[in-house]
Amino acid sequence: MAITTSYRTRSDAVPLRSFKAKGRPSAIAGVGVHAPEKVITNLDLEKMMDTSDKWITERTGIRRRHIAEPGTTTFELATGAARSALKAAGIAAKDLDMILVGTSSPDGPFPSVACRVQNELDAPGAVAWDTLAACTSFVYALSIADSFIATERADTVLVIGAEVLSRMLDYSDRGTAVIFGDGAGAAVVRAAPKGAGFLSWCLGSDGRGYAQVTCGNIEKGAYAAKDTQPFIDMVGPDVFKFAVDIFIRQATEVCQTAGVALDDIDLWVPHQANFRIIDAAARRIGLPMERVAVNIDEYGNTSSASIPLALEEAVRKGRVKSGDHVLLAGFGSGLTWGATLMKWA
Ligand code: ACO
Repeated sequence: MAITTSYRTRSDAVPLRSFKAKGRPSAIAGVGVHAPEKVITNLDLEKMMDTSDKWITERTGIRRRHIAEPGTTTFELATGAARSALKAAGIAAKDLDMILVGTSSPDGPFPSVACRVQNELDAPGAVAWDTLAACTSFVYALSIADSFIATERADTVLVIGAEVLSRMLDYSDRGTAVIFGDGAGAAVVRAAPKGAGFLSWCLGSDGRGYAQVTCGNIEKGAYAAKDTQPFIDMVGPDVFKFAVDIFIRQATEVCQTAGVALDDIDLWVPHQANFRIIDAAARRIGLPMERVAVNIDEYGNTSSASIPLALEEAVRKGRVKSGDHVLLAGFGSGLTWGATLMKWA
């Protein structure tokens, strides 16, 4: 599908909305992940299309990606991540008040992936639904969890980012096929002591950029057509510039709102879209790469799963300790963006 709408990323930049976390504080109590076992390397892709390990590694930082076997569902990956996050948090599924799944690749328009996960976990009664904001879905869903806990409408919320993007890939399009992968990550969010947990948020969207990253023939509603395979399409270089810009602006915004200096960020967990995007933004923010979580080499871009996949790895490797300032930041199709600064509980 040819994308015709242009989007001037910088000159059209919108003012950002940011706000301090209010009400009862909430924090991440445990994280978990689940990725398909099957791995496709750049060398495998060399045999499938006109590309090279050198190009992919140098232009994106990706070396491997985990790809679901045909028939593997998004809810299965989501459930695997959910179980490991619940275990890490020491929470029983029956104690969940809410289950939120961020995904752009649900197994069907309905029921929601969240309700399928709920069924697998045997947690009837919790409110369960999906959030679609492309790669920003996980951060949007986290903000919903924080809001419900802040206003005492929930005590314990399971937030999941899960994708089987491989079924939306056109393997004749080297511009997208080499970039995306499958996986899931989850976080249990709970009420926290004052001064801990989420400190500030920056969330926004700019629908003028709707055509920059698409799936299916959105002008004709072709996603729903039986004989149409919905493929991911994007204006890569434009999204690249938008991404660097929005990462820098969001980081600045959430830090200012929370009254924390950029230099006091202990760990930045960015959406893993392209290593060069992360590197360019980190340099401009002034963060050394030792304070940035990067695992795009292993997973590629897993959309809503990428932030929890990188966060879980950082936690598992002991890179996050109580009291650390942790910044999560995403962007994606829509265009959408979302960031939060938290004090690790
Ligand atoms: N292998 C070899 N060559 C390739 C490949 C490939 N896989 N893909 C593109 N090329 C070629 C192009 O054909 C082009 O060749 P030409 O110069 O002869 O015309 C050349 O490489 C440069 O192409 P560009 O698209 O300009 O390459 P760029 O350096 O911008 O990298 C990329 C492309 C990786 C897509 C980059 O633009 C990017 O990461 N953009 C951001 C994408 C993103 O963040 N998306 C997130 C949203 S996802 C969501 O919301 C679901």
